[in-house]
Amino acid sequence: MTSSAFMNTLAGKKTTQTPIWVMRQAGRYLTEYRAVRQNQKDFISFCLNPEKASEVTLQPIKRFDFDAAIIFSDILMLPWALDRNVHFITGAGPRLTPLSLDTNLDDKLLDQIEKRLSPVGRAIELTRLSLSVNKPLIGFAGAPWTVITYMIEGGSSRDFAETRQWLWLNPKEFEALFDYMTQATINFLSIQARSGADVLMLFDSWASAVPAERRDQFIVAPVRKIVRALREQGNKQPIIGFPKGIGEGIIAYSEKAEIDALAIDHMADAEWVDKVLPENMPVQGNLDPLSLLTGGSQMMNSIDYILDSFKDRPHIFNLGHGITPLTPIANVEQMVQQVRKS
Ligand code: CP3
Repeated sequence: MTSSAFMNTLAGKKTTQTPIWVMRQAGRYLTEYRAVRQNQKDFISFCLNPEKASEVTLQPIKRFDFDAAIIFSDILMLPWALDRNVHFITGAGPRLTPLSLDTNLDDKLLDQIEKRLSPVGRAIELTRLSLSVNKPLIGFAGAPWTVITYMIEGGSSRDFAETRQWLWLNPKEFEALFDYMTQATINFLSIQARSGADVLMLFDSWASAVPAERRDQFIVAPVRKIVRALREQGNKQPIIGFPKGIGEGIIAYSEKAEIDALAIDHMADAEWVDKVLPENMPVQGNLDPLSLLTGGSQMMNSIDYILDSFKDRPHIFNLGHGITPLTPIANVEQMVQQVRKS
């Protein structure tokens, strides 16, 4: 177990230094990442190569001395392990065989997760050995809703039309699919917790697509179920929830999902967030990745606004979503400097 400003913040304490890391920090904006990526056959086998996954996990720590590492993997490794035929096509993103109503998701596949995703556990073990003790390592999974959108749509989507039609037209099958993927997510996070992840994070990147009246059912409840199951297994790692784009929904989420910290997107106003969240609830976020890409004085002002809004609350500085491939390194350096100066 590591002790650091990052862990203290997650424990609900206000620290003198605001810790910082960046979502998708191991990625294409880094030349050293592109150099490794170039020699990989495909993205899935890259994620399943513990040595390479560990190497790129450490790259952003070496370069920027971020306060936490996040294991190099993907939320779509879970559908891959469930035989959903996941491929990443350069320039086009992920492709999966879309689920149909009569697809049989066998319970036997749930037992297969342990073995098929053991390389992610191995990558965590290796990374933990190389990371200094004061740098926590984050393990993660997609939250059920977000992963299910990829499984139903067969890839990325703009409006999630198929998924929302399932929700309204086939509620029974939809709920069964949720139960199944909730269990699968527990299995995946459990491997990572046992392998030495210090923190766990649930990415619900497309939570914004759930109609408000169904948020409790499809965003809050599955996450609470995952948190409770992990706790019952004896895992004590703090858990960060990221229900992206749900606006006022973060109030109910932070009260009912039983997560330890809330990651917020850049559409949420920091000052408002600070006002409405339970006292001492740790918050992570929320610079617009495009503000970081653009840089300059607007970025500095945005950073200061975020820091100032959360000055009385446990706060981890981060972006409101993943860093984009064209982001200049110099801007990242400037952001880190500005956060550390405060
Ligand atoms: O944060 C990190 O550095 C750890 C690595 C990480 C990746 N994916 C690696 C990756 C994390 C935390 C993720 C999570 C993830 N993956 C999410 C949730 C966070 C978010 O951004 O909303 C989602 C929705 C995915 C699904 C996914 N993976 C898509 C849609 C794509 C294709 C789009 C793209 O950016 O290329 C990926 C591929 C992916 N996952 C890349 C990386 C570094 C780029 C692929 C490459 O290098 O070839």
